[in-house]
Amino acid sequence: MTSVRAERPEDAAAIRQVHLACFPTDVETRLVDLLREAGHLAVSLVAEEDGQVVGHVAFSPVSAASGEAGAGLAPIAVLPAYRRRGVAHALVEQGLASCAALGFGWAVVLGEPEYYSRFGFRSATSSGLADEYGGGDAFQAIELKAGLLPGGAGLVRYAPEFESLE
Ligand SMILES: CC(C)(COP(=O)(O)OP(=O)(O)OC[C@H]1O[C@@H](n2cnc3c(N)ncnc32)[C@H](O)[C@@H]1OP(=O)(O)O)[C@@H](O)C(=O)NCCC(=O)NCCS
Repeated sequence: MTSVRAERPEDAAAIRQVHLACFPTDVETRLVDLLREAGHLAVSLVAEEDGQVVGHVAFSPVSAASGEAGAGLAPIAVLPAYRRRGVAHALVEQGLASCAALGFGWAVVLGEPEYYSRFGFRSATSSGLADEYGGGDAFQAIELKAGLLPGGAGLVRYAPEFESLE
């Protein structure tokens, strides 16, 4: 059975292994390390099965051009052998709940609309938000607290650690 919990200091190596196994380069692995070092891993959850970390999701602070702070979901990864049984779903759902509990009023993601719409994410562009990466329909936003999605706020910037990676 999968359980989802906040990362602990001793999980860092296992989280690295998950991202290295799931992405073609080590960009996401380094991103998570940089966010952690900078104190920008606002929410970092692991999915665990039989004592093994099989998935991870990170949320870091984003800011709209008008100043409102939200949470950006990235990256998320689940080891290939554990996919298509809702592990990522549990990570996203509990991650959004943790963001709301921490006081974030909204969150964004760059991802597949068909997948993220099931959590309530909708096109961010149609709410007047833009991303730095030309994500188009992939850039989506969700309101975590009524009235707090900063519609029309323009460009949403991710944490500086996203810029330092290539
Ligand atoms: C994207 C990723 C995190 C999804 O992880 P996952 O745990 O397989 O995700 P879920 O199980 O929640 O959902 C994946 C699919 O499985 C389906 N699924 C969920 N539970 C299921 C179950 N019990 N039985 C069968 N299928 C199921 C979902 O409906 C979904 O299918 P769909 O999107 O085609 O409708 C994983 O594939 C991954 O690590 N990919 C590489 C890294 C990556 O691309 N990350 C995203 C960008 S940051």
